[in-house]
Amino acid sequence: MPRATGAPENIGDMSDDRTGESAAAPRRRAVLCGMGLLGLAGGAAACGGGSRRVEPSADLKGKEVAKVADVPVGGGVVVSRHKVVVTQPAEGTFKVFDARCTHAGCPVDRIREGAVYCPCHGSEFRITDGTVVKGPASRALLEYPAQVRGDGVVVV
Ligand code: FES
Repeated sequence: MPRATGAPENIGDMSDDRTGESAAAPRRRAVLCGMGLLGLAGGAAACGGGSRRVEPSADLKGKEVAKVADVPVGGGVVVSRHKVVVTQPAEGTFKVFDARCTHAGCPVDRIREGAVYCPCHGSEFRITDGTVVKGPASRALLEYPAQVRGDGVVVV
């Protein structure tokens, strides 16, 4: 069962401490990848598989996007209203991803066998970090910082 606590809790380790990456790094890397400016060896890793944390839009920031109780452990929910996917890969750990598939922009529509699934061409993404399980997508879903506040998952 999902765990709800009264106190705000950092979820999903949204700080940049773990990667040592600045908040602007994913955007900068995306631009470099798009321009083909990263070297082949480093570019494959940087442009491909890594998770991609970004700041949310002003519209999304501060919004409760799901109730903790609605997000199954080991799975997740697609929240069409906010165009996000909320997952709980381990009990008490919540992740919020942009629901647009990184292949051609279709909205992902379900969680299937522990992966976020895109119906357009079958790409799948890990619920843990949004990285690609199965293509044709080659880049991870965008991930937003989030916290549990009360009984909800809030984008921060
Ligand atoms: S748009 Fe998602 S797999 Fe092509």
